[in-house]
Amino acid sequence: MEDDGPDEPVQHHMTTISQHNFGVDSDEPDFSISIIENMKEDYGLFVWPCSIILAEYVWQQRLRFSGATVVELGAGTSLPGLVAAKVGADVTLTDDSSRVEVLGNMRRVCDLNKLKCNVMGLTWGVWDSSIFSLQPKIILGADVLYESSAFDDLFATVTFLLQNSPGSIFITTYHNRSGHHLIEFLMVKWGLKCMKLLDGFSFLPSYKASVLSGNIQLVEIGLNS
Ligand SMILES: C[S@@+](CC[C@H](N)C(=O)[O-])C[C@H]1O[C@@H](n2cnc3c(N)ncnc32)[C@H](O)[C@@H]1O
Repeated sequence: MEDDGPDEPVQHHMTTISQHNFGVDSDEPDFSISIIENMKEDYGLFVWPCSIILAEYVWQQRLRFSGATVVELGAGTSLPGLVAAKVGADVTLTDDSSRVEVLGNMRRVCDLNKLKCNVMGLTWGVWDSSIFSLQPKIILGADVLYESSAFDDLFATVTFLLQNSPGSIFITTYHNRSGHHLIEFLMVKWGLKCMKLLDGFSFLPSYKASVLSGNIQLVEIGLNS
């Protein structure tokens, strides 16, 4: 159902559009992405700081993304995936299959930004037939490591995609609440290797860093073989 339908007036009131600029100069950005947010939904309809950091990384690494096949997991409002599409990647945005509201919003933000992306339901740890056709060169995930009970399902999906697409890489940003132990533990458990680990603030332009807080890390993960 559309969120501006007559049955959902409250939700309509809580919908806002945020603007996200990319480029060295905040006053004269190279481009902008508009995101529809809705504070009523938990998680999936809010642009989380991890997403702003991952999107900036995609922009700065745009040569690597141009022409690449990209899948974003737990994309929610999808800022990193939309930036990847903007710089020329072939992008599939995914989120929990049962969250039709989030999937519908993903289609709306693609239209709003005039970007063509695939949108599909992909629940971590669930093997619907659609997952077998995915062969991403780059897998993105912003703030998908926040609930420890979901880590195994998430990494089962990530490991499957990495195996299904040789040479591929998973790039994720997460709040580092437990030191490096979390990532080290998951790497060993799933036979993965950390290829790069960055402080999320180390590459952010000051106009973005000044409005974010927390200890956010960016990690690039590949198969350990
Ligand atoms: C904290 S939000 C992050 C959203 C977005 N990536 C961002 O950073 O703004 C976590 C996202 O993961 C999705 N998610 C949670 N559990 C999931 C699951 N089991 N399978 C697929 N997606 C899931 C949620 O719907 C939500 O969009």
